[in-house]
Amino acid sequence: MSQKTTLEYSDKSHDMPIVEGTYGEQAFDIRSLRADTGLITLDSGYMNTGSTTSRITYINGEEGILQYRGYPIEQLAEASSFVETSYLLIYGELPTPAQLQAFSTLLTSHSMLHEDMRHFFDGFPSNAHPMAILSSMVSALSGYYPDSLEPDTHNEHHIARVLSKVRTIAAFTYQKKLGRPVAYPRNELKYCANFLHMMFSHPAEPKYEPDPVLVKALNVLLILHADHEQNCSTSTVRLVGSSRANLYASISAGISALWGPLHGGANQAVISMLEEIRAEGGDCSVFMRQVKNRERRLMGFGHRVYKNFDPRATILKTYADRLLSHLNVEDELFDIARQLEEVALSDDFFIERKLYPNVDFYSGILYRVMGIPTDMFTVMFAIGRIPGWIAHWKEMMEDPDLRIGRPRQVYMGARTRDYVPLKKR
Ligand code: CMC
Repeated sequence: MSQKTTLEYSDKSHDMPIVEGTYGEQAFDIRSLRADTGLITLDSGYMNTGSTTSRITYINGEEGILQYRGYPIEQLAEASSFVETSYLLIYGELPTPAQLQAFSTLLTSHSMLHEDMRHFFDGFPSNAHPMAILSSMVSALSGYYPDSLEPDTHNEHHIARVLSKVRTIAAFTYQKKLGRPVAYPRNELKYCANFLHMMFSHPAEPKYEPDPVLVKALNVLLILHADHEQNCSTSTVRLVGSSRANLYASISAGISALWGPLHGGANQAVISMLEEIRAEGGDCSVFMRQVKNRERRLMGFGHRVYKNFDPRATILKTYADRLLSHLNVEDELFDIARQLEEVALSDDFFIERKLYPNVDFYSGILYRVMGIPTDMFTVMFAIGRIPGWIAHWKEMMEDPDLRIGRPRQVYMGARTRDYVPLKKR
């Protein structure tokens, strides 16, 4: 017999079925609640609300588990590539060698920007924030590919375009900011190597040859960011897409949602925080006192879902170590970050609140060491998150039960009153 839960209110009751997930997680299904009772639920910040069922990503925040389509993040980071992981997220299974080759070729064939789009791109001031450029350019893609306006989840070209072109747009933005000509993609290079080439090639210098250790670190970074179930930006992509908006418009909205410092903007905020601590003499204990007095926030710490550790942060800390020793550089900011973590992990304030480093705590250190400027960190997060957004948009669009996302509210404003003409106010 299927399980149910019963809501008792006034002198009535209402039965709701229990929905059970793969690992036994339970939710009561309130879909008939308002129709049957007139009641709605109130849950600001959606702390307790499941917006959908999904088959893409599993997180167990208590145990620090993250899996894409059932595969542990640790295994994917170690052995997969960003392109292969993207395929897995979007299409549900690891690709065969032939499928992976075809997908890679498709991405390569869509790496250029339409020359008309270049003119649009040229219109941005060179000091425009890279996230503003990225979200506008991705939205503009729907203008250049009008057949995308009628959403079709089987059109692999739109999927490949957005995945491939974000990397080109991001690298062009950087070259433009430096006042250099853009570097066009090179078809013989794979996704991450090609990105590094477009970012760092200099017209007057010898041909840029991407360092394989940097390429591996970038693959890992992008894989770790590739999906995170119903987070703020993914929920935004789903909400916008639920009105049957096209893929580019939906993803552009996700990029905007990611921008804020409480979400993808945190990686940039972490570096600013570490720089401030260094400028103030590098004393972590003073900073931590201010955090506990709520005068400052420890950026890159805490998570809505992870209440133990964020497995992505653990992997990134190892890669930060590896990359620094490979490049034979020391980074004072990395040392400050490690000290902060050490203090936080033994301090009751953080222990009681279950605050641990999240993915953004160490990702900025890696990007910095790779030469990526701070104002592009959130763009890097966005490039990584594209396959996740596509996968969720596709899953939702293919759901026969898709309905437009439209939450309700409890109105607390003024009661009905008569309009007062301007001269009488
Ligand atoms: N520094 C200091 N105190 C914190 C922090 C922090 N980073 N995060 C949470 N707290 C405290 C908070 O003040 C509250 O304390 P109290 O109960 O005494 O009022 C308690 O911990 C619970 O925090 P919350 O703000 O209610 O938690 P939330 O689930 O609403 O917020 C969060 C989650 C990620 C927005 C928050 O932890 C935060 O602001 N972290 C810093 C920003 C950050 O690193 N964001 C990246 C998140 S991971 C990447 C991504 O998914 O985008």
